[in-house]
Amino acid sequence: MNDNPFILEPYRSKELFCDREEETSRLIEDVENGRNVTLISPRRLGKTGLILRTFDEIASRKLKIKTVYADISSASNLDDFIRLLSEAVVSVLKENSKISKFFRSLGGIRPLISYDPVTGQPQVSITWQSSEDKAMTLKSLLTYLEGSGTTVLVAIDEFQQIREFQDVNMEALLRTYIQPLGNVHFIFSGSRKHVMSDMFTNAKSPFYESTIFMNLGKLDKAVYSRFITDMFNKGGKEIEPSDIEYIIEWTEDYTFYTQALCNTVFMISGDKVGRNDVNNAIVRILESNQDRFLEIRRLLTAQQWNVLTAVAREGSVSKPTAASFLRKHALPSGASVLRAINSLVDKEMLLSTTTPDGLTSYSVYNVFLSKYLKNI
Ligand SMILES: Nc1ncnc2c1ncn2[C@@H]1O[C@H](COP(=O)(O)OP(=O)(O)OP(=O)(O)O)[C@@H](O)[C@H]1O
Ligand SMILES: [Mg+2]
Repeated sequence: MNDNPFILEPYRSKELFCDREEETSRLIEDVENGRNVTLISPRRLGKTGLILRTFDEIASRKLKIKTVYADISSASNLDDFIRLLSEAVVSVLKENSKISKFFRSLGGIRPLISYDPVTGQPQVSITWQSSEDKAMTLKSLLTYLEGSGTTVLVAIDEFQQIREFQDVNMEALLRTYIQPLGNVHFIFSGSRKHVMSDMFTNAKSPFYESTIFMNLGKLDKAVYSRFITDMFNKGGKEIEPSDIEYIIEWTEDYTFYTQALCNTVFMISGDKVGRNDVNNAIVRILESNQDRFLEIRRLLTAQQWNVLTAVAREGSVSKPTAASFLRKHALPSGASVLRAINSLVDKEMLLSTTTPDGLTSYSVYNVFLSKYLKNI
């Protein structure tokens, strides 16, 4: 049995999930008012958790909304997309008779279903004759949801992935099929900000201005710190506010990293948590990640690694080509640093954040890696 209250998966229950009350209510309000939402945040901040929290809230309020969750991060073409969406629908339908009816509604194709022996998750396989058939299947799938008799909320997680599809213009196709739907509403969630923004705010993109935006931020520090205290207390442990503050500061109140540190502190501490427990947990985490960090080093050029280290040492850098930054970290020309920065952003090693007044700054995406780099 696992009694550690600090979950490391996106969502388990309301009790083990911190806040996001306002966002949850807003998402429910949006679906009730027929709006589609684009949900954006950097990775590991809590998008998937928020979606699942919202679905849970919809269920516990007994609202007449069916919820479908599809993670399309592994999709590389239209086939994959249809398969993942079908599997998501099948796992909601559960009953065999309903699944058969759903499959029949997809037209001439004969999907096969099996269940993963370990997770029990449904796996659907479909064979098509032509690519027109595929598009028709997608259309039929959405028509099936539209005619299901209730409002349906479909969350497509890692939505930016559709830009990688080579076989179809997925945005145009989806937009065409989604536009006429009145009962099916969507949450399009993703972390690649520039791709997501381009899809929804570029006048040339099919999804232009078809959704409203939710930019998910960090949890409120005071609320998160109360939550952490509660979780330790419920687990029979005491912890000083100053130690919680230290945990939150060290992990830059970045949800995944804060949860991970709290999880380890909880695991290694006794009834009374002390600063030494926190420090020991930090050492453990950095040690257990070391192989991964060395692997990253191997995959980067020396220049990229040096720039990454320099950014980590600064915490956040807004002028990476400034002479003072180059000199301080013994970096060569601004142009080559800029190249390294761009490719590190592309590899999701660096996070670029732009403030409302247009100032862009860079920080190391992975907080643990950032701390590791600071110390070497
Ligand atoms: N409100 C919350 N309360 C407690 N833990 C949370 C909360 N939100 C997120 N987490 C923690 O942070 C981790 C990352 O959250 P989640 O997977 O939802 O992020 P994400 O934005 O979907 O990330 P990605 O873009 O990589 O898919 C979760 O595994 C969980 O440990
Ligand atoms: Mg996610």
